[in-house]
Amino acid sequence: MDIHRIGVFTSGGDAPGMNACIRAAVRRAVAEGLEVVGIRRGFAGMIEGDFVEMDRQSVSNILQIGGTILKSARSDAFRTPEGRAEAATQLGMAGIDALVAIGGDGSLQGSTHLATEHGVAVVGCPGTIDNDLFGTDETIGFDTALNTALESIDKIRDTADAHDRLFLVEVMGRDTGFIALACGIGGGAELVLIPEMLTDVGAIKERILSLMTSQSRSSIVVVAEGDELGGAHMIRQALAEDPAFDRIDTRVSVLGHIQRGGSPTARDRVLASRLGAAAVEALIEGHHGVMVGVVNNDIKLTPMRHVWSRKKEIDYDLLQLTALLS
Ligand code: F6P
Repeated sequence: MDIHRIGVFTSGGDAPGMNACIRAAVRRAVAEGLEVVGIRRGFAGMIEGDFVEMDRQSVSNILQIGGTILKSARSDAFRTPEGRAEAATQLGMAGIDALVAIGGDGSLQGSTHLATEHGVAVVGCPGTIDNDLFGTDETIGFDTALNTALESIDKIRDTADAHDRLFLVEVMGRDTGFIALACGIGGGAELVLIPEMLTDVGAIKERILSLMTSQSRSSIVVVAEGDELGGAHMIRQALAEDPAFDRIDTRVSVLGHIQRGGSPTARDRVLASRLGAAAVEALIEGHHGVMVGVVNNDIKLTPMRHVWSRKKEIDYDLLQLTALLS
C-alpha cells in the first residue's frame, strides 16, 4: 500500500520524550515527501476529527520539552466498537492512510483493534514512564521519570537521615515495578516493594526493625503504587498495627505526577528520536500492526498484540541486589 499522508498522535499517560518522538516522526516523514497530520488528544481527538496539519516548522523547538504538544487523553468512547468506527471514518475523511501511535499498553491495544477492525495501517512507538512494554528494552519517558524519582529520593534521604526516620516513598507504576526497582537500587533503598512480588508484611517488619534498631539510622522503603497492599499509605497502616513500630518515626511521601513531567533526559531524547524515525521508516517499508522498540541497542519490530498481551519481566537479580546492598 502506498502511503501519502500519515497521522501522528500521543495517547494515554504522557511521558517525557513524546515531543522528541513526534518531531522525529514528522521530520522523517516530511523528508520522504509525505504529508503529516497531528491528531490532538489521542483517540478522543481522533473520534472528533481534531486534526492539525504539520510540517517541519510545527515541531521546531519541542525536542527538550516535557508533556506532548499534541496533548493526550484516555478515551472511554474508543473502547467501544462504535467509537473506533467513528475514528476510522474521521481518518478516512481526512485522507489519513497510516498512523504513528505513541503511547503505552492501552494505546497500543486500542491501535491494534483499530487496525484489525478497520484495516488502518498503524506502527506504534513505546511511550510510557512505566517501562512495562514487551518488545523494547526501554520505553520513552522511563529514564526521565526514574531520574526525577531518584533526585527526590536523594532529598528525602537527607531529611530521613537527619531525624533517623523511616520513609515509605511511593513511586509510579500501576502494574509494574520498573521505576521502583531502578530508583531503589540507585537511591540505596533498604527495601523495594513491587507488584511483581508478594508483599510479606511480616518479613518487611522484621527487616525494618532489625535495620533501624541495630544501627539507629534512616531507612527508605520504595513502594510501587501498584504494590499488592495498595501503596505506601497502606503499608504504613499495616506497620502501625504492630506496637514495635510505635518507636519508629515514620513518614510517607507519594511522589506522584511529578515523575511524569520535566525536560527529557539525553537518553530519552535519543531513544525517542530513533523510534519516531524508525516508525515512519517501518510504515514506508510496508510494516504495520507492529511496535518499534530498541533491543540490545538495535531497532526491533514486534507485533503490537504481543506488546500488550505478553509480560515484560523485571530483572529479579536487581531485586536480590537491593537486599544484598542495603
Ligand atoms: O501509565 C503511566 C502512569 O503514570 C502510571 O504509572 C500511573 O499509574 C498512571 O499513569 C496514572 O494515570 P493518570 O495520570 O491518568 O492518573
